[in-house]
Amino acid sequence: MVRHAHAPAAPSALRRTVVLVGLMGAGKTTVGRRLAEALGAPFRDSDDEIAAAAGMDVPSIFAALGEAAFRDGEQRVIRRLLDDPPHVLATGGGAFMNAATREAVRARAVSVWLRADLATLVERTARKADRPLLRAGDPAEILARLMAQRYPIYAEADIVIDSEPGGMHDAVVERIVAALRAAGALEDAA
Ligand code: S3P
Repeated sequence: MVRHAHAPAAPSALRRTVVLVGLMGAGKTTVGRRLAEALGAPFRDSDDEIAAAAGMDVPSIFAALGEAAFRDGEQRVIRRLLDDPPHVLATGGGAFMNAATREAVRARAVSVWLRADLATLVERTARKADRPLLRAGDPAEILARLMAQRYPIYAEADIVIDSEPGGMHDAVVERIVAALRAAGALEDAA
């Protein structure tokens, strides 16, 4: 069976928190869960943490409090999570656009941009209707605009990994583990 071809690393293999960045549909949550499993590390998702803190889901926060309040909560939640022991943190697509968040991530974690092409993002985000930004018009147009705005900033991440089309998440996890090892983000024995 090739599904988990990568040998799981020892517990606490991570020296620093791994922060996954990238656009909606890049696979941050799915890949992040599997990466955490492979590294024996906890997994966190900033959207889930914001929702838990607010007592409502992300679309409700946008609708009831507005995007600015969401961004404020996002920044605070990520700062708090960076104080936790090393873990894998999937962030919402807008999180790394915040300069203070980028600075905190740079100082305290290792960032991985999961880069994906437009067709992949459109296909993956069409499966769920829980992204308020994509409800404002044609999702493909919105995603293309966000790619133009955000990809130059995401490119500041420490590691860039191309997301595989067709949901080959395990291959992506293997490439991230190799890149983390090369970057010295894993314990030597891992
Ligand atoms: C957003 C991405 C979403 C969520 C919110 C805003 C963005 O997270 O934080 O809807 O600005 O790109 P995902 O990237 O996990 O979908």
